[in-house]
Amino acid sequence: SEVKKIAVISGDGIGPEVVAEALKVLKRTEELFGYSFETEHALFGGIAIDQKGTPLPQETLDICKNADAVLLGAVGGPQWDNNPKELRPETGLLAIRKELGLFSNLRPAVVFDCLKDASTLKPEVLEGTDLMVVRELTGGIYFGEKFRRQGDQGEEAVDTCVYNVTEVERIIRQGFEIAQKRRKKLASVDKANVLETSRLWREVANRLAPEYPDVELEHILVDNCAMQLLRRPSSFDVIVTENMFGDILSDEAAMLTGSIGMLSSASMGEGSYGLYEPVHGSAPDIAGQELANPIATILSLALMFRITFGYEDAASAIEEAVAEVLNAGHRTSDIAVDKSKAIGTSQMGDLILAAMKK
Ligand code: NAD
Ligand code: IPM
Ligand code: MN
Repeated sequence: SEVKKIAVISGDGIGPEVVAEALKVLKRTEELFGYSFETEHALFGGIAIDQKGTPLPQETLDICKNADAVLLGAVGGPQWDNNPKELRPETGLLAIRKELGLFSNLRPAVVFDCLKDASTLKPEVLEGTDLMVVRELTGGIYFGEKFRRQGDQGEEAVDTCVYNVTEVERIIRQGFEIAQKRRKKLASVDKANVLETSRLWREVANRLAPEYPDVELEHILVDNCAMQLLRRPSSFDVIVTENMFGDILSDEAAMLTGSIGMLSSASMGEGSYGLYEPVHGSAPDIAGQELANPIATILSLALMFRITFGYEDAASAIEEAVAEVLNAGHRTSDIAVDKSKAIGTSQMGDLILAAMKK
């Protein structure tokens, strides 16, 4: 089959460690299924600031644009936290999403049966949880005008939250379309009792609903949603929400699965091009210690195979291998009940490779 191009941007902290494991899985997929991939590495985030003077060098952006998909580790770290905005890793992350037109961030949270005891929640509450957060990724308060000014009572900081109707429409359509392929329940999450952007959001959801008569639409306020996610997680199917609410709710949903180290994501535009990254960050507290769980990144690669390339066989093989390894009791320390028996990052990667079958 034809060679697919993947841009690889490992980033900072545990980024390179978890990406290395996903690349082993990529290689195994070639051996098992006969697919061919060409990978091109590029500097991004803090390491790019240090080496190139900017978090998103033009060359990196070009490599991503010339590829069929992007695999991303994570960016950020304390050494860059106090830099001016243009010299912060997170600014590069927002820029790459915007530049690549990736407005739709899919974050599935699936509870593996054998990990129910790894969560801080009761196993019976988690039973059957399988939800998808559809997070708007290139608008809202992340991208609105930001500035400082002098007010009557001293310095003021301003962040503006802006959404236009086109941006809202396309992400809500994503929510409905994804729900149609799942259990046909869509929870549209907003703060329509306070925010104007949320009122627009709700209007659009209601206007589009008749086009998707098979999908049951529920509106839920974000504060209530945060609570219901812990009270009745298995009742959610698809959650569609704006950028910042989606950021917060998906980290919350991560704890349903046992660890943020389990949560994968796909960032999409209109076509099949996508950027795939774990939901977690660069975890500076555990970087360089073989402690990171690589499963979120490995499952992100599975999403790439499924969504961008249509390689369902390879995607399922990875997901089944992950389940098999977890079922056999292997755990990195974030999901281990008995931490003394925990295995390291590369050991987890190796076990998953070994479990992959055609
Ligand atoms: P984080 O997700 O990096 O870490 C939160 C906690 O979860 C930490 O205790 C960490 O050790 C743990 N954790 C995260 N991933 C793990 C994994 N794979 N295995 C085991 N444990 C894991 O969030 P944070 O600490 O708030 O942020 C750290 C840095 O990462 C910041 O600079 C932040 O801006 C950045 N960040 C980047 C991304 C991204 O690149 N997409 C996402 C979130 C945060
Ligand atoms: C994420 C991260 C980013 C976000 C930060 C690092 C800019 O938390 O990918 O979830 O808020 O989108
Ligand atoms: Mn986040």
